[in-house]
Amino acid sequence: METVVSGIRSTGNLHLGNYFGALKNFVKMQHENNCYFFIADYHSLTTHPTPDDLHGKVKQVLAEYLACGLDPEASTIYLQSDVPEISELYLLLNMNAYVGELERTTSFKDKIRKNPENVNAGLLTYPVLMAADIIIHNATRVPVGKDQEQNLEMARKFARRFNNMYKVDYFKEPQPYNFGEALVKIPGLDGTGKMGKSEGNGIYLFDDAKTIKKKVMKAVTDSGPTEKNSEMPEIIQNLFTLMDVVSDKSTIDFFREKYAECEIRYGDLKKQLAEDITNFNAPIRERILDNLSNNDYLRKVAKMGAEKARESASKTVKDVREIFGFKSF
Ligand code: TYM
Repeated sequence: METVVSGIRSTGNLHLGNYFGALKNFVKMQHENNCYFFIADYHSLTTHPTPDDLHGKVKQVLAEYLACGLDPEASTIYLQSDVPEISELYLLLNMNAYVGELERTTSFKDKIRKNPENVNAGLLTYPVLMAADIIIHNATRVPVGKDQEQNLEMARKFARRFNNMYKVDYFKEPQPYNFGEALVKIPGLDGTGKMGKSEGNGIYLFDDAKTIKKKVMKAVTDSGPTEKNSEMPEIIQNLFTLMDVVSDKSTIDFFREKYAECEIRYGDLKKQLAEDITNFNAPIRERILDNLSNNDYLRKVAKMGAEKARESASKTVKDVREIFGFKSF
């Protein structure tokens, strides 16, 4: 049995990238393993949500997790901010994390380039908090999308460094996980890389048929292939990558063939893609609405999760404090 940890920032509704990059794999693992799934609400503070926004988004994300099939009986589902032990481990790990290595991470460089007016220390130490999230349960597997690979590498580095510095064999090294397959990167609809919450190019699980159609029809395309069996440019490949996750094989084959034969009509492809995404979303959307209207249920899930998570987390923090050398008189 593996110990599995994964989480999602509560900066906005969940999109198809979150689902196919992380949630789907987590859901598949939850019945056979010791699984923890949490809402990274502390991480979301790096982008300064308003106090009103903060709770609403956490509630929405919790309702969405459950709608995607996370089972609160099988796995431990909790809010990061409900487990104070994570903050303590974060503080301790920060003492052994170096500013130079944190400044060099791609996501930090990326964020400061995009938001030069908000280069806060939380952003710099983001990978340390993420490492604390993971190693607090001594996780071995972390189902994430491709974009989190470097953060996972940092988590392994901090775990290893702790073991080396204190001459212990305490933390295991957590591995990114996708059932032996490559990690997933779901593209955005604007042709500029990954689908993201901050990129404004996402299709959310909560989107309805009309919204999806509008977004998909606006997706960037080119003027079409002119030579048979030619290679697809990235913007077209992106549409097929989305099809790969929501459409039937026969549909995908049909449009691939049309492309190869230079007979493709992007309008038809987009219409089909929008329909398939809508069919994928519809039952999830319904369950999200259901969950949102059941505050008692959400409260119960969060309370139960916090208790279970703290049990495991407090054991780790107790051990780590001892290893650091804290003693009571
Ligand atoms: P976040 O909230 O940006 O994304 C949550 C999860 O969704 C995956 N993901 C994607 N996968 C494929 N294609 C995409 N376009 C795409 N967009 C997002 C991410 O890889 C991630 O698995 N730092 C994390 C949250 C976090 C965390 C953790 C995750 C905090 N602590 C501990 C795992 C373990 C983040 O911002 O993910």
